[in-house]
Amino acid sequence: MNILIIGSGGREHALAWKVAQSPRLSKLYIATGNAGTRVCGENISIDISNHSSVVNLCKEKRIDLVIVGPEIPLADGLVDSLSDANIRCFGPNRAAAEIEASKVFSKKFMARNQIPTARYASFSSFEEAVKYLRTIDYPIVIKVSGLAAGKGVILPDTDDEAEATLKSILNDKAFGNAGNEVVIEERISGQEVSLMVFSDGTNCVPMVAAQDHKRLLDNDEGPNTGGMGAYAPAPIFTKDLLNEALENVLQPTIDGMRNEGRKFIGVLYAGLMLTKNGIRVLEFNCRFGDPETQVVLPLLDTDLLDIADACIDGKLKDIEIKWKNEAAVCVVLASKGYPEKVESGKVVTFAELSDNTICFHAGTKTDDNEEIVTSGGRVFGLTAWANSIHNAVEKVYSNIDKVSFEGVQYRRDIARKALP
Ligand code: AMP
Ligand code: GLY
Repeated sequence: MNILIIGSGGREHALAWKVAQSPRLSKLYIATGNAGTRVCGENISIDISNHSSVVNLCKEKRIDLVIVGPEIPLADGLVDSLSDANIRCFGPNRAAAEIEASKVFSKKFMARNQIPTARYASFSSFEEAVKYLRTIDYPIVIKVSGLAAGKGVILPDTDDEAEATLKSILNDKAFGNAGNEVVIEERISGQEVSLMVFSDGTNCVPMVAAQDHKRLLDNDEGPNTGGMGAYAPAPIFTKDLLNEALENVLQPTIDGMRNEGRKFIGVLYAGLMLTKNGIRVLEFNCRFGDPETQVVLPLLDTDLLDIADACIDGKLKDIEIKWKNEAAVCVVLASKGYPEKVESGKVVTFAELSDNTICFHAGTKTDDNEEIVTSGGRVFGLTAWANSIHNAVEKVYSNIDKVSFEGVQYRRDIARKALP
């Protein structure tokens, strides 16, 4: 099979690394990829927001299957454009991607399908939103409805802060059109788990559950980021909790979407909070998580191309998806200044890594001298897997100095929560 992966981050390097191991692969292309994906296949520099150029590329390279990594092309309907041209695609169409692209849609969908989530209200008018604030007496979270690269969730501590946040989103358009509507949600508490499932539109099969580390600094301090590391499986997520999540959240979501004419094919990601009253959904994503994918795919034994085919053909029930009985840990190496103003263009040096250790590239490129240089906030996801979380943590940190560039920052406590 000739495969095209869309995207250029750490998740896409992990996807490319996994697909490159398939005996069914003929040629792998990544658009646009990074300095890491170059080792797995051929990077293609095109504008992925131009759907006709993606369709033309697929025809020219005789692509048998497209795997879309990021949410923006999914929300933009890239899968619809490819399907119209009879090109097979692993990922939800525009209507199904709305579960991530519109938080207002997603909250209303959960309400009408009895999927457990925090209480909420949605607004497009600042005045109405403030009026509502005065009627409630519990702590809240404010969420921009549209896509905001993980930055659209604000946890205000005072009424003044909440009002200022609403004003900046709804009136001053701090998030552009993504902030035309906001969700005001009750703030709940508990441990968070990322549960991704493969879906063929009718059935779903869970991946191993992961935990992300969203804050920049050790002990979950500092600003929110795109994710500073992850591990899987999450020991806190017991078999009973998995069954609860599948029964109360994932299966009803797949069914509800299908019944509403938004059949979901691809990877559905549920951001779950384990509260004392049971599992609550914080968010849905319509794609693989980043950096969760970097710890989940190394544990997957089954060929990802077989899974993608089964999802597209509605035959997920017919295949067995196997996982290694191991644990994986990913530590993100970020640029100086991340997540605010980042330094780029730093030359990276690499030393040989241990077995079962891989450095997934996220923000890298190859410069004119064929040197690998940093080109973004999150630069690498150094990932190791072993027979226990403990050993995977030891391995990843014993390799951490082998990838270096000026100004590198990373957390020292990834997966500590999972250790006894
Ligand atoms: P989201 O992108 O919706 O998952 O939100 C990003 C982060 O904000 C989550 O990982 C949580 O840590 C936090 N968060 C979101 N919604 C809530 C909520 N209702 N209560 C408490 N924390 C929340
Ligand atoms: N790790 C969170 C996300 O992929 O959105």
